Amino acid sequence: MRFLDEMDVSGKRLLIRVDYNVPLSGGQVADDTRIKASLPTLELALSKGNSLILCSHLGKAKGKPDPKLSLAPAAKRLEELLGRPVIMAKDCLGPEVEAQAAALKPGEILMLENLRFHAGEEKGDMEFAKAVAKLGDVYVNDAFGTAHRAHASVTGFPALMGACCGGLLLKKEWKFLGETLEKPVRPFVAVTGGAKVSSKLAVLKHLLVKVDALIIGGAMANTFLKAQGLGVGKSLVENDLLGEAAAILEEAKKKGVTIALPVDAVYSKDAGKPLEEMAKAGTCPVNAVPDDAMVLDVGPASVEAFAKVLAPAKTVVWNGPMGAFENKAFADGTMGVAKILAGLDAVTVIGGGDTDSAVHQSGLADKMSFISTGGGASLEFMEGRGLPAFTALEACGK
Ligand code: 3PG
Repeated sequence: MRFLDEMDVSGKRLLIRVDYNVPLSGGQVADDTRIKASLPTLELALSKGNSLILCSHLGKAKGKPDPKLSLAPAAKRLEELLGRPVIMAKDCLGPEVEAQAAALKPGEILMLENLRFHAGEEKGDMEFAKAVAKLGDVYVNDAFGTAHRAHASVTGFPALMGACCGGLLLKKEWKFLGETLEKPVRPFVAVTGGAKVSSKLAVLKHLLVKVDALIIGGAMANTFLKAQGLGVGKSLVENDLLGEAAAILEEAKKKGVTIALPVDAVYSKDAGKPLEEMAKAGTCPVNAVPDDAMVLDVGPASVEAFAKVLAPAKTVVWNGPMGAFENKAFADGTMGVAKILAGLDAVTVIGGGDTDSAVHQSGLADKMSFISTGGGASLEFMEGRGLPAFTALEACGK
């Protein structure tokens, strides 16, 4: 696999797959992190006298044009960030777009309209791929957030274009996530959380063979606590995974991996209400959760215990919040872990959309070594799965 900074590409039309699947509010980009993350690639490509044709999806457009999911606000934000014009196309294919692409001069940028306005994108349809791929000479994939999707713009374009490479963001993600997991400086500690064991099962199993210690928080800890015979009241729990949870604990013991589960819990007695209306009712040890309580965060003694496990760490991977941090009453556990990581003398890698939001909410984002731009993609990467984007780039030109 090659990356843009390892190739001599100049005077070409680059078809660049970016991930501008960004939140919008009132017709404007509400969070431009992903647009900013693409700038190094775009600036490098522009500095070599290339013209750029950018393509992305935004939201779940389901194969039909939807003005609310237009990429025009992203193009406008990019224009502001780059300080040069970005031409917004009406579509991502067809004669008008072909003429616009052909007319591009070095240094000019054309943003194609949402790829998912065509059903062919998500289906990985090769006819659709051909119609878009012919707009450019060289394919650059810089969309790490979409690297786990075998869609036309991820796997189809590189199969059709003779010259392809990864962008600088893709390289950074691949290097940080890949090297952290493959060659961690030890002790290596993983912090996992989030609502469901089911969505993290593969990650937990993959991490278990790599780490020295595994911290398990969030609602998924309830399943592990219940598997040890503790009561969890009205908390979220996956009863069908109690056996899997017990097996993970057993496996960790065999491998000598320390598992740290919460020792206390913050709970509410408003189970059934929307999260924003739930109030904190108390804190208790995990062996004394009231029957009518719903655990929504790890307690202060857990944060203290996690701090001890993390203190010697030289590498930390964090995926999944410790509690329902979107409600301030249940944010202390997650914010506490962010604070611990920020103070460590270690490589700290953050993956997953919720964890990314939590770290930004904590105001400590700049204290982390690396925050992945991928949600599902970083999770699948941490599961040790080959991502379609990388496989396609490796095969390109062979
Ligand atoms: C993301 O935000 O995780 C990526 O852009 C992928 O989006 P998707 O889940 O709609 O495929």
